[in-house]
Amino acid sequence: MAGYLVDDQRKVTTHRLIQMKAEGKKIAMLTSYDYTTASITDGAGIDVILVGDSASNVMAGNWTTLPITLDQMIYHAKAVVRGVKRALVICDMPFGTYQVNETEAVSNAIRIMKETHCDALKLEGGVEILPAVKKILDAGIPICGHLGLTPQAINKFGTYSVRAKEEAEAQKLISDAHALEEAGCFAIVLEKIPAKLAERVSKELTIPIIGIGAGGGCDGQVLVIADMLGMTQGFSPKFLRRYADLHTIMTDAIGRYVEDVKEGDFPNENEQY
Ligand code: KIV
Repeated sequence: MAGYLVDDQRKVTTHRLIQMKAEGKKIAMLTSYDYTTASITDGAGIDVILVGDSASNVMAGNWTTLPITLDQMIYHAKAVVRGVKRALVICDMPFGTYQVNETEAVSNAIRIMKETHCDALKLEGGVEILPAVKKILDAGIPICGHLGLTPQAINKFGTYSVRAKEEAEAQKLISDAHALEEAGCFAIVLEKIPAKLAERVSKELTIPIIGIGAGGGCDGQVLVIADMLGMTQGFSPKFLRRYADLHTIMTDAIGRYVEDVKEGDFPNENEQY
């Protein structure tokens, strides 16, 4: 089966995403971390590919996103960009590369853009990182914000549970979202917050709100590709819909290969020179 038939094969831009929201068209976004997966994802009709720092978890096996480095994110983003023709490619700025001061933030942002040729960057946080956000935007680099559950702050929260359930945190999230829009961000990811709150933010803002565990009232959705393809196991949050069971498919295929090699069935006469 082919992917989703997209009527517009032109490269997706940040401007186009804002237009899609205005036209009531939903935005589909997934993560990718390598060339092959990115080219399949792009060919299947995705609008946005996020080179997420979740690479730290699903590619490198770390417990959190904190250990991934700028060099490692650049390596992943370069590979993804080579595989993409249509989708907008956003690269996460990893933990520690934009929190120290605005000058360091903008020089790290410029390095990612120069070396990877990605289209935009994503940073986690609200008013606390606004000076860095403004400086990066001033350099002509588009930014997607990220509020709600911000995994780079896991050691501060101490848990991956739903954020902004209480009024004070919900109010802060709303004012952070407005501040990011006013600063010039082209989109915001809202992670693991009540659906009603995400819907309210989506209605109040003109830039697209992309949800993950934030309900159907958002302007688009994002998932980690290894989770939605069923490659990962033992991670089953309520919001995750698995579209395949690649863990079983891959285990079965690899098991049959091992058996064929051990029994001398592979390679056969047609599979050699
Ligand atoms: O790193 C990532 O994959 C993300 C998504 C969960 C939005 O930030």
